Amino acid sequence: MIEEKKLGVADFEQLFNEKITPYLADRIREYDFVYVEADDQERDLLLKKIISFLLDKNVIYSGEHRHNEWEAGWGENLKDLTITSQKEAMNPKYFGKYNNLRLRQKFIHPVSKDFERNSLWIIVDWLADTYLRKFHTVYEFGCGTGHNLFRIREANPEATLWGCDWAKSSQEIIKKVNESGVDKKIFGKNFDFFKPDQNFRLEPNSAIYTVAALEQVGGRFQEFMAYIIANSPKICIHIEPIAELLDSNNLLDYLSIEYFKKRNYLSGFLTYLRELEKQGKVEILKQSRNYIGSLFIEGYSVVVWRPKN
Ligand SMILES: C[S@@+](CC[C@H](N)C(=O)[O-])C[C@H]1O[C@@H](n2cnc3c(N)ncnc32)[C@H](O)[C@@H]1O
Repeated sequence: MIEEKKLGVADFEQLFNEKITPYLADRIREYDFVYVEADDQERDLLLKKIISFLLDKNVIYSGEHRHNEWEAGWGENLKDLTITSQKEAMNPKYFGKYNNLRLRQKFIHPVSKDFERNSLWIIVDWLADTYLRKFHTVYEFGCGTGHNLFRIREANPEATLWGCDWAKSSQEIIKKVNESGVDKKIFGKNFDFFKPDQNFRLEPNSAIYTVAALEQVGGRFQEFMAYIIANSPKICIHIEPIAELLDSNNLLDYLSIEYFKKRNYLSGFLTYLRELEKQGKVEILKQSRNYIGSLFIEGYSVVVWRPKN
């Protein structure tokens, strides 16, 4: 008999290693986090699938050459905006692609198809609740459709929100959100991590964050970091694949780290920040994994830091 389990407030408290606020508890209760754990036979099949992927010589890896693909991907969401309700049409289409996810270093089979997106939203809600309530301006870099910005809006009704991305279709989506009156204080800006626009200055009393976006730069985060440090936001939050926080002696974590390498995902970022902290240039406020992930990776680790002036 297959045992169904459900993630609740106490589970997230354990995963985040923090007391859950009433605000976040309400969000957790809104979603259906029902799942079953994979049995040994399914685990073997999933491991085989991941290993086959890692051995494939023709895997698509991230970098500058993928600009047009992101442009086209968000272009699909842009088209949908005209035919369905707006917030719904902003969901990235890559969520729910596979029937399996990872949780606490085990494979699971989520019952709800939105399990992964919802668990990511809980991470965003958690960080917005903890860190982003008091800022006048909040920027998401690599925002895609900008769906995370609505999570920030829930926690901070007054802030001006910016969604920045190198894909122009992202700015077109955000323009529609703004002009249709869904949110008049959300703005879009074309922005490339590899060539930050130095004329785009961050407002005083601002915060920045990234969600599964800096992952796309591989080891090339220095230009972006120099830009951020020069602009001195009060706080910087990243929900990204961070190999330094995984355990390479655990098989699922090990395969996740190998996948980061194969796809040219963010690498060396936390090591770099730790070095900057030793030099007295930044302060790291949080560095934690949360044991939630997709089939191939645990890619939603959290790093929070601030520049020291
Ligand atoms: C996996 S998506 C995540 C999007 C969004 N943060 C979310 O959580 O839905 C990665 C995003 O990074 C953006 N991106 C990739 N390389 C970039 C670059 N060099 N500069 C700016 N954005 C980039 C892509 O256009 C895409 O929107």
